[in-house]
Amino acid sequence: MPTEVSRRDFLFGAEAVAIAAVLNRAYANVLPEKLAGDEDYWKQIRSAYVRDPKILNLNNGGVAPAPTAVLEAQIEAIRYSNQLPAYRMWHDLEPNIEDVRKKLAHMWGADPECIAITRNASESLQIAQFGIDLQPGDEVLTTSQDYPRMITTWQQRERREKIVLKQVDFAVPVKNPADLVALYEQAITPRTRVIHVSQVIFMTGQMFPIKEICALARAKGIVSIVDGAHAFAHVPFQFSDIDCDFYGASLHKWLSAPIGTGLLYVRKDRIEKHWALMAAPESMDKNIRKYEEIGTHPAAMHNATLQALEFHEQIGAERKFARLRYLKNRWAERLGKVPGAQVLVGLDANESGAFATIHFDTMEPRKLCDALLNNYNIFVTPIVAPFLNGIRVSANVYTSPEEIDQFCTAVEAISTRA
Ligand SMILES: Cc1ncc(COP(=O)(O)O)c(C=O)c1O
Repeated sequence: MPTEVSRRDFLFGAEAVAIAAVLNRAYANVLPEKLAGDEDYWKQIRSAYVRDPKILNLNNGGVAPAPTAVLEAQIEAIRYSNQLPAYRMWHDLEPNIEDVRKKLAHMWGADPECIAITRNASESLQIAQFGIDLQPGDEVLTTSQDYPRMITTWQQRERREKIVLKQVDFAVPVKNPADLVALYEQAITPRTRVIHVSQVIFMTGQMFPIKEICALARAKGIVSIVDGAHAFAHVPFQFSDIDCDFYGASLHKWLSAPIGTGLLYVRKDRIEKHWALMAAPESMDKNIRKYEEIGTHPAAMHNATLQALEFHEQIGAERKFARLRYLKNRWAERLGKVPGAQVLVGLDANESGAFATIHFDTMEPRKLCDALLNNYNIFVTPIVAPFLNGIRVSANVYTSPEEIDQFCTAVEAISTRA
């Protein structure tokens, strides 16, 4: 970036989302389900990313690559900042966090004053988890398939403050998503203070009916915390619909924002009484920005989230979801027929979206992942828990159907030898 370029030029540059914007106009009236299989469209989206030339990445759920425009905005901001950090970063760049806040709020139907920008879902959720005053014996209700770090967080409060964590079990694949509401309902006791629920379970891709679960919590005066790490910018929703108390997400997963970005939503009437993880002055008690008082950090990451938001918006939430399901269903339907295979989640649109986990009786997940990587240059991740195991497969908007087929052929070949 030339030294004197203004910050507007690179933060809102015409090139940033050009590919998606042009396409958006050309395909304005095509329905999501129809567009899901239109390879001319998705080829262009694919060209917005630079991919590893050798390895086929089917672990986009762990953390996702950013489109080139997002990466460039991030790099340019770092370069710009580095020339005079104390001025350029704090004075020129940091205020743009407000544009990101407004855009996130606008796109997901929330008041910007309820949105904090964090560094990842772990930070967002730990702000939610640690900031609530709880008494010894107070209960927190979650499942045994929630994210280990978030479980660890509650367990630390168990050891330190003698609260009680209750983790309910459920069998996979879930037969009826409505049963998941009953799962929580039946475990509520007079001491339940918090319901902690994943919108999408990281182990299997199972979507939870969070609107109903949050409504259940509200009706009983229980605080709801939604782990949206795997759902945000993947499953279409609006905050105004789900009406949770807290929602934490990573933006470096399904939004493809720079690595090191997250979002925290806090319901307006909760902010004043909810403690921050890193202390903020009393004058900020009612201000959502108290959760951003984290000391010196790069502005480049959260600022370049704007380009990721524009890219996501140009594709459209429903279209992206339909395409991601289309790719997932392509491999899941085919590999589900391999002898001894079982897809651990239902494939309907209210059950799973971009990713799923598949179990094979004859293949140990870690060995299968190693064989795929070493012999076929395909990267997927194993999921191994006491009650389920398999490989988790997560494509992205840049993945082609040919690549999905290549993956299926590789698994079939390995399974024949197993
Ligand atoms: C369900 C769930 N919650 C929280 C997290 C933590 O996300 P991060 O590592 O971005 O903080 C993850 C990460 O994979 C996750 O899958």
